Amino acid sequence: MKVAILSDIHGNLPALEVVDKDLAYQRPDAIYCLGDTVGYGPYPGECVDWVREKANIALQGNHDHAMYDDDILRYFNPPAMLAMGYTRDRLTPYQREFLQGLPVVMAIKMLNLTLVHGTFTNPWAWKYIQNEGTAYDELLACPTQFLFYGHTHQPEIYTMGQGLRTDLHPGVPLGWQSLSTTYQHALNVGSVGQPRDRDPRACYMTVEVYKRRFKVQYHRIAYDIPRMFQAVCLAGLEGHLSRRLWQGR
Ligand SMILES: [Fe+2]
Repeated sequence: MKVAILSDIHGNLPALEVVDKDLAYQRPDAIYCLGDTVGYGPYPGECVDWVREKANIALQGNHDHAMYDDDILRYFNPPAMLAMGYTRDRLTPYQREFLQGLPVVMAIKMLNLTLVHGTFTNPWAWKYIQNEGTAYDELLACPTQFLFYGHTHQPEIYTMGQGLRTDLHPGVPLGWQSLSTTYQHALNVGSVGQPRDRDPRACYMTVEVYKRRFKVQYHRIAYDIPRMFQAVCLAGLEGHLSRRLWQGR
């Protein structure tokens, strides 16, 4: 079985379109989306519609949560707040209800994996798996062998066997990588719409499970950043948000 897992689209339709094309070539059996479909970017409705149509499983991220809950907004910085107001105004009630109805964590026992946006231990707190300590705590609590997450926009894999090992994967496209099924792994699938590992290309991951073999691959795809930049400016969201698209950070 081949599964594509993607996260943090953040209203970036030009990036999502190239990923969609690449998915047509990859032909996965299923698509999982780990949340933050909206926020920051000027195409929230289009991205929600894509997830609704194409994702077999979709989760909720903190920016999706902010579409219907004011309490969470105190954690948002000024650019995120600006984009939040813009995004709220543009979603239809149906699109907002769709986001609100999404789960924050999902286990797929058949594939021995768990999906979450932030952390498994406290998914509604929107904390980050961002170093070996947090990865260790999460893997210890997680009942499945593989834990897929997003939220930091950093493609990285933590492996817990005899001790914890970290493999960071910024920037470069990688070939297939076999993962030991003896050990436990936490895998950040990167971000489609706002990569932050200094590689501005859209990022997602495919997973192949065959008998007891488990292989993963990161995909990096260039997209039309000038088009996105122009749309961000036209939406009045220019500044920090658009600059980081060019820089991938
Ligand atoms: Fe995000």
